[in-house]
Amino acid sequence: MNAADFQAWSDAVLNRVETALSDWVPASAPAGLGEAMRYGVLDGGKRLRALLVQAAAEATGACGNAAGVEATLRAATAVELIHAYSLVHDDMPCMDDDVLRRGKPTAHVQFGEARAMLAGDAMQALAFEVLTPDDGEGAGVSPALQARLVRVLARASGQAGMAGGQAIDLANVGQSLDEITLRDMHQRKTGALLRASVQMGAACGGVAAGTPVWQALTDYGHAIGLAFQIVDDVLDETQGSETLGKTAGKDADANKPTYVSLLGLDGARQEATTLLAQAQAALARSGLGSEATASLRGLAERIVHRDH
Ligand code: IPE
Ligand code: IPE
Ligand code: MG
Ligand code: MG
Ligand code: MG
Repeated sequence: MNAADFQAWSDAVLNRVETALSDWVPASAPAGLGEAMRYGVLDGGKRLRALLVQAAAEATGACGNAAGVEATLRAATAVELIHAYSLVHDDMPCMDDDVLRRGKPTAHVQFGEARAMLAGDAMQALAFEVLTPDDGEGAGVSPALQARLVRVLARASGQAGMAGGQAIDLANVGQSLDEITLRDMHQRKTGALLRASVQMGAACGGVAAGTPVWQALTDYGHAIGLAFQIVDDVLDETQGSETLGKTAGKDADANKPTYVSLLGLDGARQEATTLLAQAQAALARSGLGSEATASLRGLAERIVHRDH
């Protein structure tokens, strides 16, 4: 796949996911909640998690039937809802206290803290609702696949994943962490959802847990998940707020332990490059073939070489 084909593929996925989110996040939710939810999740974001779901699903043959296509779109949308909820809460005064997100005022600045918190809560619940369609609205996504997707996403969102990582993050402001603890924090707070995105795509393709393909894709997701947060730490230090769409330089200001504070900029970049190579090696040993894994390879490059 050349660069133009990859871009066209990614634009098409983004369009579908944006439309699905717009259809499924109800403007009619009461007392302004719908407006806050839509503000938090629509029109913004790189949608890397949705792209990972789609790429892993295509690589494993999920998109050859209507139920697989439907399950993939639902999984891609659900992970973006969880991610958007995590950002709305991450920006609140009790957490990172940020005023800018995706080039706009953060949700609590726009709507007040109570509505931002509830919008996050409601997006989290909606993610699991989207994964479990009623008979008739889900185009035949089997109950077994629905349950599997819920389990993968729930594990990655809760204490073993994002919420646990965020707790470690907040408990260690002003501390210097050793590399093992910092890696654990990054893997949970960010890596887990990216890895889950790949796993959900593979689940849509019917890949059974414990098989060599599942393990190779999990290893790929693990490597790019950690690389993603290391690059986020680097960009916080090296880019401006305009490019990032969020306040630059926040980690140093807030005295957060990051890969940059631990290893320096060059050391952090080197670590991300090593993880990129590990991710590509995992794809190579998946046995899925280089054509099937082209978009996963492209996404790994994009994650490590992005500028925002
Ligand atoms: C930002 O994630 C928060 C982290 C987990 C580091 P993204 O950089 O994927 O944010 P959007 O979705 O593109 O805004
Ligand atoms: C956030 O990490 C991870 C989440 C789970 C949202 P950061 O706090 O570094 O994310 P940004 O830099 O605010 O996007
Ligand atoms: Mg944070
Ligand atoms: Mg933050
Ligand atoms: Mg950051």
